[in-house]
Amino acid sequence: MPEKQIALVSGGTRGIGAAISARLIKAEYEVIALYNQNEEQANNFKRETNVHILKCDVSHYDTCADTIENIQNEYGKISVLVNNAGITRDGFFHKMDRQMWSDVINTNLNGVFNLTHLIWPSMIENGYGRVINISSINGQTGQMGQANYSATKAAVLGFTRTLALEGARRGVTVNAVAPGYIETDMMASIPEKVLDKIIAKIPIGRLGKADEIARCVEFLADPASSFITGSTLTANGAQHLV
Ligand code: CAA
Repeated sequence: MPEKQIALVSGGTRGIGAAISARLIKAEYEVIALYNQNEEQANNFKRETNVHILKCDVSHYDTCADTIENIQNEYGKISVLVNNAGITRDGFFHKMDRQMWSDVINTNLNGVFNLTHLIWPSMIENGYGRVINISSINGQTGQMGQANYSATKAAVLGFTRTLALEGARRGVTVNAVAPGYIETDMMASIPEKVLDKIIAKIPIGRLGKADEIARCVEFLADPASSFITGSTLTANGAQHLV
């Protein structure tokens, strides 16, 4: 393993992803954060944290392939991959059109396939890797208005378990983190009356903080977490007990 490990965080300049990038850089990883649209916020984040940033739409395989090749040429092999990029297009199923379905599938699920598929061979070849997939409480339980999102977040758990089996003898661990409701921009799309109902169901009595998820990721990324693979680390303020 190189002295300075390279960590790639998709959706790594905002919300939970930004907290993950910030934590990993503090823990002495060389961190590359991918962002898709919000260039200004990404540049500010880079200035504040020294995290490297790259624009990459994770839903496009060829774009991901170019990005990964550039990273490997410039920084070296990636040993930690955090599949965090995710979007919501909420709406009750009878109002959900095909675009809302495919946008979410393409980013949240195909994005996980794309990055992992491109990085997996070098992890296997190196005999070392950490893949951490960000799922969600809503993939564990289902959620009104999120047939698309909860389908992707449940799928990510199956993907995690299968890759854990395939990586087990090659030094590559694959785990998921399932956050509950966390204070991020994603929550802004939830109507206030609905948010009140959601918070009322969280036994801790508040939303989670992005850094409370980031520390789960830092723990799973650690070389010493080598016997933990195929697991789902749940952090949801006791909202759903598994
Ligand atoms: N919990 C409880 N009740 C809910 C609910 C929820 N999650 N979502 C909707 N409802 C209720 C509403 O309160 C409302 O009830 P009343 O008629 O009694 O007021 C009823 O369902 C209809 O809801 P709306 O009036 O809001 O209907 P709409 O068609 O305008 O919007 C919706 C539907 C888009 C699903 C909207 O309600 C919504 O955005 N709900 C939140 C969905 C959600 O939880 N998304 C999670 C986003 S955060 C995230 O995804 C991160 C993560 O991983 C946890």
